[in-house]
Amino acid sequence: KGLFTYDPGFVSTAACESQITYIDGDKGILLHRGYPIEQLAEKSDYLEVCYLLLNGELPTEQQKAVFNNTISNHTMVHEQLSAFFKGFRRDAHPMAIMCGVVGALSAFYHDSLDINNAHHREVCAYRLIAKMPTLAAMCYKYSIGQPFMHPRNDNTYAENFLRMMFSTPCADYVANPILVRAMDRIFTLHADHEQNASTSTVRLAGSSGANPFACIAAGIAALWGPAHGGANEAVLTMLEEIGDEANIPEFIQRAKDPEDSFRLMGFGHRVYRNFDPRAKVMKKTCDEVLGELGIENDPLLKIATRLEEIALEDPYFVERKLYPNVDFYSGIILKAIGIPTSMFTVIFALSRTIGWISHWNEFHSSPNRIGRPRQLYTGAKKRDYPSA
Ligand code: CMC
Repeated sequence: KGLFTYDPGFVSTAACESQITYIDGDKGILLHRGYPIEQLAEKSDYLEVCYLLLNGELPTEQQKAVFNNTISNHTMVHEQLSAFFKGFRRDAHPMAIMCGVVGALSAFYHDSLDINNAHHREVCAYRLIAKMPTLAAMCYKYSIGQPFMHPRNDNTYAENFLRMMFSTPCADYVANPILVRAMDRIFTLHADHEQNASTSTVRLAGSSGANPFACIAAGIAALWGPAHGGANEAVLTMLEEIGDEANIPEFIQRAKDPEDSFRLMGFGHRVYRNFDPRAKVMKKTCDEVLGELGIENDPLLKIATRLEEIALEDPYFVERKLYPNVDFYSGIILKAIGIPTSMFTVIFALSRTIGWISHWNEFHSSPNRIGRPRQLYTGAKKRDYPSA
């Protein structure tokens, strides 16, 4: 006390300088390297956004082609890494498996890795961007007992992911372009969000000079919780639990009850005190996907839409400036694409990997020191160990 600021939850502490992402929470603005998220979601694609986050500028046509090709060349994982999956129970949560296998990548890329070398750091980023869809799809295949599908380098990034998820050696998955675009947009909308809990975790882990793949595994662990990336899974579970529009008031009441730990999942944000701009794009994408599939009357969408309407008029949510966040509609889209609920947070992790590694790279590109928060000690005073 006196020597440092006490700020539980880091509500008002800036821990670093960054040039990657800007958020104005009061106005609902999100910019990556200066570009509004709405424009990137509409006009760009995920790999281009990866390039932008990592390098600071949009690529030229030629740079883009080289970048995409480089990513394609790193999509496979070492055969020995495939063996790790067998150590997990088939019913293990895919996020548990992701923590394990992404952390295990550090064993494959360690001895010759120099994190002070900019090119080495770049290659780490390429490997991670390329291998995350492969590992994510392997988690799913493992859970349903199907053989792993190899990546295909003639597919786009999102198409390749969907194909590894849903193709089998007996039948090729034919990707619907609208669903591929929606998948790519979900990746883009989750790509970065400045110093959130998982990104801060990656920066802090990285600040000790630890292996970057191990740092990303730490980020995956931080993301898993329902207050962060786990919310997309929790939203769908909540909508299914509500089950009928008639039950919405009961759940709203529970969310408002200070004695009840239940929260409206997919609502609220530490930084946004206005609409999360990602949620708006997500809702539009949701309408497009359900329209394409002819399931506009999806009962979960109806419940979500009504829930949003009721919450946005309720003084409790209005006073606290609680609006739908990025996770509110993403689950409905993922479900429509055919992705099981347990994979939702894995998809968030896959998408956010570029944000994590860009921040890790930024940390190591500039003068830095180990992160070491202080504490306010409230424990016992000095006392003597009892004599026998
Ligand atoms: N439902 C009901 N009440 C809420 C909710 C909610 N979803 N979110 C916040 N509140 C209330 C909270 O009870 C508190 O009320 P009071 O002042 O009376 O005590 C007030 O709003 C402020 O909440 P807080 O917990 O101090 O806010 P925070 O900034 O610490 O937490 C949050 C932010 C996102 C963890 C929280 O809003 C939440 O738990 N939301 C639900 C989970 C969720 O959707 N998470 C995804 C976040 S976006 C994706 C990502 O980047 O991870």
